[in-house]
Amino acid sequence: TATALTLAACGGGETSGDGETAAAGGDGGGATMRLALNQTEEHPSFIALDNFGQRLEEATEGRYSIDVYPNETLGAQAEALQLVSDGSVDMAIVSGTQLENLNEDFLVFNLPKVFDDVEHQMRVVNDEAIVGDLYASLEESNNVTVLGGFTQGARSVYTTDGPIETPADLAGKKLRVQESDLHIAMAEAMGASATPMAFGELYTGLQSGVVDAAENNEVSFWTQKHYEVAPYWSYTNHLVGLDYLIINSDLLAEMSEEDRAAFDAEWTAAYEEHTELWATATEEAIANAKAGGATFTEVDEAAFAEVLEPLAEEFITSESQQALYDAARAAAE
Ligand code: GCU
Repeated sequence: TATALTLAACGGGETSGDGETAAAGGDGGGATMRLALNQTEEHPSFIALDNFGQRLEEATEGRYSIDVYPNETLGAQAEALQLVSDGSVDMAIVSGTQLENLNEDFLVFNLPKVFDDVEHQMRVVNDEAIVGDLYASLEESNNVTVLGGFTQGARSVYTTDGPIETPADLAGKKLRVQESDLHIAMAEAMGASATPMAFGELYTGLQSGVVDAAENNEVSFWTQKHYEVAPYWSYTNHLVGLDYLIINSDLLAEMSEEDRAAFDAEWTAAYEEHTELWATATEEAIANAKAGGATFTEVDEAAFAEVLEPLAEEFITSESQQALYDAARAAAE
């Protein structure tokens, strides 16, 4: 990477031809940016990011482009976050649960029931007045800038051996969660025992019985083929999840004003496209999973709401968290 940096600087900001990071030169040069993603190429996030890259390349006359690496090929999210921080990868999509481990303020948006639906969530996470400080908060500590969010939609629990209806039905089941203290507590509140695990290990985890259950959106249930090994979907709707687009802060700072404006405009178009794709992809995922043998069952929603309710009070421990929570709730319809 050091060589690529030097070459790019000497070459007046040409993009590198070898797929390595080519950070900008002093003239606000350009780069072919590598973006780490843990989803398949059919997932709305891949599609929206790939289109983002193509529009960016046109808008900047080839100075900036994006290579999206799907399926954890650049590493699982915890690793991708580290790689973006040290500059060996330029951008990544990481779940809010990853950022919660760097700044506890992020956990507010990972709480069950903080967002009523996707529309409410997108309104909050794109409101500069609410999220401006939060998104800049990792720049000094980690050299990472948060650019905005992609919805993960509503998440529900699915199991290997029959649907669940109440928290009591999760007793004795090992429920895979993301690497987050909040989500460990959430799984336990829902009656399960929690097993944190990287996304890419989950299919095998369910198949081999290392875990008996997982929780996600219908799109991942389908695209990751989890329905093959855990076909019983139960609509707990316990939270609306959030992914973030992150970028190495030095790379962002090197963009010329003009390129940065193009970048911001195309990113806005990207998350809007993603939100649109999401609704269709969810419907298709349900139909496809059903055709593949999955069942979708309603649960006792009130029983789940009751056990999840105390988590907000338990995990909100600072004024800045409370302010984010209040701002998010105030933006609900
Ligand atoms: C969703 C989300 C991913 C996340 C995954 C998980 O699919 O979009 O960013 O990694 O859930 O449960 O780990």
